[in-house]
Amino acid sequence: MTATPDRYLSSAEIRSRFLAHFEARGHTVVPSASLLLDDPNLLFVNAGMVPFKPYFLGQETPPYKRATSVQKCVRTLDIEEVGKTTRHGTFFQMNGNFSFGDYFKEGAIQYAWELITGDQADGGFGFDPETVWVTVLPEDDEARDAWKRIAGLPDERIQPRGLKDNYWNMGVPGPGGPCSEIYIDRGPEFGADGGPEADEDRFLEIWNLVFMQEELSAVRAKDDFDIAGPLPSKNIDTGMGLERVAYLLQGKNNMYETDVIFPVIERAEELTGKKYGAGASGAAGADIDDVRFRVIADHVRSSLMLISDGVTPGNEGRGYVLRRLLRRAVRNVRLLGYDAPALPELLPVSRDRMGESYPELVTGWDRIAQVAFAEEEAFRKTLQAGTQIFDLAAVEVKKAGSTTISGDKAFALHDTFGFPIDLTLEMASEAGLAVDEPGFRQLMGEQRERAKADARSKKGHHADTGVYRGILDANGPTEWLAYETLETESRPLALLREGAAVTSLGAGEIGELVLDRTPFYAESGGQVADAGVIEFEGGTLEVLDVQRPVRGLVVHQVRVVDGELPADASLLHARVDPDWRTGARQAHSGTHVIHAALREVLGPTALQSGSYNRPGYLRLDFGWLNALAPDQVREIEQVANNALRADLPVAWDYMTLPQARDWGALALFGETYDDTKVRVVEIGGPWSRELCGGTHVDHSSQIGTIVVTGEASVGSGNRRIEALTGVEGFSYLARERDVVSQLSTLLKAQPDDIVGRVGDLVERLKQSEKEIEKARLAQLLSGGAALAGGAVEVNGVRLVAQRLDGASGGDVRTLATDVRARLSGDTPAAVVLIGAVDGKAAIVAALNDAAQARGLAAGDLVRVAAPFLDGKGGGKADMAQGGGTDVTRIDEALAAITAAIASA
Ligand code: ALA
Repeated sequence: MTATPDRYLSSAEIRSRFLAHFEARGHTVVPSASLLLDDPNLLFVNAGMVPFKPYFLGQETPPYKRATSVQKCVRTLDIEEVGKTTRHGTFFQMNGNFSFGDYFKEGAIQYAWELITGDQADGGFGFDPETVWVTVLPEDDEARDAWKRIAGLPDERIQPRGLKDNYWNMGVPGPGGPCSEIYIDRGPEFGADGGPEADEDRFLEIWNLVFMQEELSAVRAKDDFDIAGPLPSKNIDTGMGLERVAYLLQGKNNMYETDVIFPVIERAEELTGKKYGAGASGAAGADIDDVRFRVIADHVRSSLMLISDGVTPGNEGRGYVLRRLLRRAVRNVRLLGYDAPALPELLPVSRDRMGESYPELVTGWDRIAQVAFAEEEAFRKTLQAGTQIFDLAAVEVKKAGSTTISGDKAFALHDTFGFPIDLTLEMASEAGLAVDEPGFRQLMGEQRERAKADARSKKGHHADTGVYRGILDANGPTEWLAYETLETESRPLALLREGAAVTSLGAGEIGELVLDRTPFYAESGGQVADAGVIEFEGGTLEVLDVQRPVRGLVVHQVRVVDGELPADASLLHARVDPDWRTGARQAHSGTHVIHAALREVLGPTALQSGSYNRPGYLRLDFGWLNALAPDQVREIEQVANNALRADLPVAWDYMTLPQARDWGALALFGETYDDTKVRVVEIGGPWSRELCGGTHVDHSSQIGTIVVTGEASVGSGNRRIEALTGVEGFSYLARERDVVSQLSTLLKAQPDDIVGRVGDLVERLKQSEKEIEKARLAQLLSGGAALAGGAVEVNGVRLVAQRLDGASGGDVRTLATDVRARLSGDTPAAVVLIGAVDGKAAIVAALNDAAQARGLAAGDLVRVAAPFLDGKGGGKADMAQGGGTDVTRIDEALAAITAAIASA
């Protein structure tokens, strides 16, 4: 019995066979959605069903009864497992077939069986039926019977397993249901007999058939959840791991050795001169170098796919995941012994392999490369700087007499310098130190909790999404009129306070109000929520914020200005502040204009990575390696303002995503599958076309003016441009004019002469400072005679040991030489001066010949003093110097020197 069929299938072939199999069985082929779907509960798409969630939940009507897809997925929960097992990958592709109230268990089992055991010559995968095992829920007789009848599986190869394995849910509230998993027996050489229950390495799960039938309201663990009720229909959701099937059909030992991943390992071998599989058996195992090779291959590919879908490295959320992947990849290459930039060598290999299935990797390559390479560059700098910082930390630990770097310190290295803990651990062990890892983990955990709490409180103001879902289910979506009008007559549908329904809201109280229709723009796409008021009979509400916590539902956060709002008020008047909206439109259109101008000046690889705009102000983050030169910034501003003067028409339209792409619209975030209509906003025809749901001006001239006020770095590989629009832009310029006019009065100069005049003043100031410095030095040196006169006799040595506040290293050296000259002669003389300036101590010791003949050495004296100054130093017998960073113990240092001479 062998688990590996004779005929090899490439990953691309497996993918196309899967889709063809289901297309022939009435399924619509749906392209993969972006990894970044707009789901508040998910960082990344992590299963094939995610884009179809609204269909399963009955929120939207599916345009087809059957669908099939190969969906890009990212899961990073098991990142530490990557490379250590045969089957953990942070990026993977899930082949899936879906039925929305159409076929159920029987159909799913039938189609799956036909594909996996079907003859390869007929488009099947050709697995030997004898190697197939399945699992079902113990009470699921229907599935068990279907497996027996359709596949002829004997009872012993249908293993019952409990909820933990055979009930699938998203890990968060959403659809779920019992499932049946399909396993392939790889053969006795891979582990014990006894089916998946006995050994999941030998029996490899390749496919999960989910009989999706319930909606879950809470998920605490895989086998601990609350069922809210049945879904509107019985559905099928399946997920087959493309990578796993590939490694079986390609006769490999693990997912990292397949046709699309292994070439990266091969390139890494060339770079590092190390051989993959040289250490251990070749099966995924503990050989440390092999694990590193696999981590590199996996992370390089995941990073490539994430950047392609619009993620840029950052310190939170998605950006952090990407940063971690990139840095782990780079670090592992380094650990294998290759020190030069690695991504320019590895990333193209992954692109070439994945490009066949994902052509956007090739078309978007320039931008992907720029983002990835910039992050590697930044990380290399971190490593460099971090080494110094680490060394300092290590010295501190040793000075404190400890052998352990505290959790605090490790956390600070991580948090401030992006130093991964494994790096800290490794460097600590090189320095003979341990690290308080549990302490570090605890701080990390606390930070994560804080981040989660922040994210939660940001989304809804109080309520969890279940409450909003209930309101939506009861009333349907809000009629949203932000594009059409600034005022509506509305009815209240729900009134909440601190997440719970209330019957009224009193003066001064803050609560959440849902209306049947609203003109208020809810914060999204970088544009802040509208401001305004909602009036009711007997009172007024101020609108503080507007959000859409679940798709289709607009929620106003309001404060009662006066009166008392009853939850069943008959009629409300919602009124957006028209000035606010005008400002918001100007700022949002201004953002598009700046984006287009940026791309005109810098080229098409400059692409927005984030934006924010509110009336009068905008900022735009974009992927770019270097600081912009001042004349580039000026040119961007000029191009933008020319576009305003040209009075370009602004228009928008709805279209499918492929149409939008063909049209050249820029879209990076939240792409959904192709039947959804998206809104495209254009300014000046093709000059600026973007996917956007924001509110815009009608003509570019209505933006008024765009004044760029700043350009700065926001993390590696990302720059930020800030600008003011409309009246704010004008006021900014007017303020600058006032400043110029005040300066002009003050300096008694024409505005055009101010720069020259200030330049002169600065030059004169410098001259004066130099002269003052000269005078100070002369005065200091004139103290030489007094210092020599103050010499005291210690143990037969004439000793001058003095502190000189305000004297630098150069000063004390000059002075010490001078004083020693004054003390020359047959009597031994020692001069030790310690200067203190700006928190730094400088020490100089100078001995005359007689003192040296007595066996004294200047270097020894400096070494006596240095530890008090938290510094070091040394030199010859006649003259030595040093420095330190502690100026609080200078007197102790001098006393120690006196004591040393006394006992010499
Ligand atoms: N949604 C199911 C899974 O992810 C198929 O396993």
